[in-house]
Amino acid sequence: MMLSEIDQRVQNLMWDIQKRTLQRMKESYDVDLKTSYKDLVTTVDKENEQYLNQQLRKIDPSAQIISEEGYGDRVKSLNGHVFIVDPIDGTMNFVMQHRNFAIMVALYVDGKPTYGYIMDVMNGELYHGGNGTGVFVNDRQINAPANNNLHDSLMVVNAGLTIDGGHNVREVERQARGLRMYGSAGIEMIYVVTGRIGGYLSYLKPWDLAAGMVLAKELGLVVKGIDEQSVDVLSSNLVLVATKQVTDDVLELVN
Ligand code: IPD
Ligand code: CA
Ligand code: CA
Ligand code: CA
Repeated sequence: MMLSEIDQRVQNLMWDIQKRTLQRMKESYDVDLKTSYKDLVTTVDKENEQYLNQQLRKIDPSAQIISEEGYGDRVKSLNGHVFIVDPIDGTMNFVMQHRNFAIMVALYVDGKPTYGYIMDVMNGELYHGGNGTGVFVNDRQINAPANNNLHDSLMVVNAGLTIDGGHNVREVERQARGLRMYGSAGIEMIYVVTGRIGGYLSYLKPWDLAAGMVLAKELGLVVKGIDEQSVDVLSSNLVLVATKQVTDDVLELVN
């Protein structure tokens, strides 16, 4: 199947899972603790992942799947087609706020960030694109954000990192025009690709980063690890997604 055909079918799947999730929120679901009371998983996370993985296997049977809640494959390399799935991103917001969460899927082809999909469920907005076609919100193409510097930008910095104050992040926060935190990597990535935020600095797992990295790169934004500088989606860690100027300003300050 052509990549563009896979893309169209995954877009349809994202609308399908949006409707299912909205329906599921009207019913009861279980909430469990994973590693602590700050780290939740619900039956909706698990059901979404099972459904997404099952449908992705129908769309692209030879692809491997990396996903958060354990229904994916043991993927050791990015050879061939690899889907990376976050079935609910911002589970804490899903449970506590019933908003500000996303569903994310990405397709990497031989390690190349190829298509990204971030569904803002409550706003009914699908951010998608890649593979040289541009980035769209639903059917509308979006422009690359202005290349603002740190002084003129709002920044999102991971809450834990802000509390610890490691890597000199407080200086980054001081110099930015303002600091924001939304509690969903997907929503925060949307804010960077639309230019509402100049940079996003956070500890990210593959499923937190994969889709946003495709969209950010497609728009000429920079995605860098603050230590080793280039990001491997399989082992991503402390990552900065930002305009070129914000990247220069932040990398000068962090250590
Ligand atoms: C989390 C959210 C949160 C980020 C965490 C992620 P999850 O994803 O994106 O904003 O700070 O690092 O784990 O667990 O809700 O999918
Ligand atoms: Ca989680
Ligand atoms: Ca996540
Ligand atoms: Ca998740």
